[in-house]
Amino acid sequence: MDTLIVEKSGPLHGTITVSGSKNAALPILMACILPTGRIVLENVPRLADIHTSCKLLSILGCHTTFEGDTVTVECGTLNPHAPYELVKTMRASVLCLGPLLAVLGEARVSMPGGCAIGARPVDIHLSGLEAMGASFELAEGYIIGRVPRPGGLKGAHIVLRFPSVGATEHLLTAAALAEGETIIENAAREPEVADVAGFLIACGAKIEGHGTSVIRVQGVDRLRGATYRVMSDRIEAGTFMVAAPLTGGELFLENCPVRELDAVIQKMREMGVGFEERPGGLLVKSGRELVGVEVETLPYPGFPTDMQAQMTTLMCHAKGLSMVEETIFENRFMHVMELNRMGAEIKVKGNAAIVKGQRGFTGAPVMASDLRASASLVLAGLAAEGRTVVERIYHLDRGYENIEHKLNAVGARITRAKS
Ligand code: UD1
Repeated sequence: MDTLIVEKSGPLHGTITVSGSKNAALPILMACILPTGRIVLENVPRLADIHTSCKLLSILGCHTTFEGDTVTVECGTLNPHAPYELVKTMRASVLCLGPLLAVLGEARVSMPGGCAIGARPVDIHLSGLEAMGASFELAEGYIIGRVPRPGGLKGAHIVLRFPSVGATEHLLTAAALAEGETIIENAAREPEVADVAGFLIACGAKIEGHGTSVIRVQGVDRLRGATYRVMSDRIEAGTFMVAAPLTGGELFLENCPVRELDAVIQKMREMGVGFEERPGGLLVKSGRELVGVEVETLPYPGFPTDMQAQMTTLMCHAKGLSMVEETIFENRFMHVMELNRMGAEIKVKGNAAIVKGQRGFTGAPVMASDLRASASLVLAGLAAEGRTVVERIYHLDRGYENIEHKLNAVGARITRAKS
């Protein structure tokens, strides 16, 4: 398994180009099962999870190519079986279930895996699809789904018990080809949900209300191929936003989705970070001395859980006490123990972490336990005295395109050791 060796860095200066969004590209790729005709997706990040999705699509009967940042998909005769070997590595692959049911009327999809953050069940996905006429049984680790006939999903009025991002994307996608109207209430409002809707609309779907908590979908008989540009990755951008003040540097983030990062920018401003919106992106400046803040993770437009670990690293650098409360996932403080091993002083009490700032980081061997936790450790390494060795970085490769190249280009000193 590869490791990253991070040396203490001076102030980072320069421009980083933000890649396409992983969390938008993954559900859009699974939605490619629906249209007939050629789909061209631009601005797709070159990440392990995207390669896994393309492999899964191929197994399901769709021809895919991935050149530069462009993926083309053209589906032939579909196969309903999504095997454990692929699905186990990536939770988002469960999103092929609804599209397979919509087109084929049957699906056999392994129960998902992915990052080890909490239980992460799929009950909201399944009960929504059941409301649309699907039935499910679980056998040998697989979800086996059926609809009376291909094209047999029916529109339904669905109220989600929680605004799950994945479930909203999944139901929205399945509803595009269902018969009649589907209303999804308490829908997730994340920008990635709106991007999935934007893609489906480009293919001929009739969707309204995406980006709000009530989404209406009028089912159509068929969807056609289209060319679509995936939105920029707000979490990758947010991660680099932390790197600038952490090292006392100044970074211009090209293609940064500024509006979509409102909650993060507001909190970082409160801490003392300077921002300037410029044509084509966002300038992040180290301003005055950073001060502690309180952050609560919430569904969008609240502070994103995917920025919680990176923000915790920045809090370690700020003066005074900070607090972060995690309300979306249980068990998402695995980075805390590792940050403490690097000299931080963080206490976890239930779903909150209390950070005593300005203790300084010292390099250490640390273990990455999930995607965003890994990013928080690399960030801490940039500010740590000595050398930080981040192990198990396959998580990082699932979510960040060329992270060491991007950071090294603005002054970091990170090397990858292959093993
Ligand atoms: C997506 C993102 C992930 C992000 C998360 C929250 C992708 C590929 N991943 O994950 O990076 O951290 O949104 O912003 O887009 N839940 C249930 N039952 C369900 C579904 C979810 O109980 O059927 C719970 C989960 O256990 C979790 C919470 O709802 O506690 C949020 O999950 P959800 O919004 O579904 O996240 P994902 O779509 O998995």
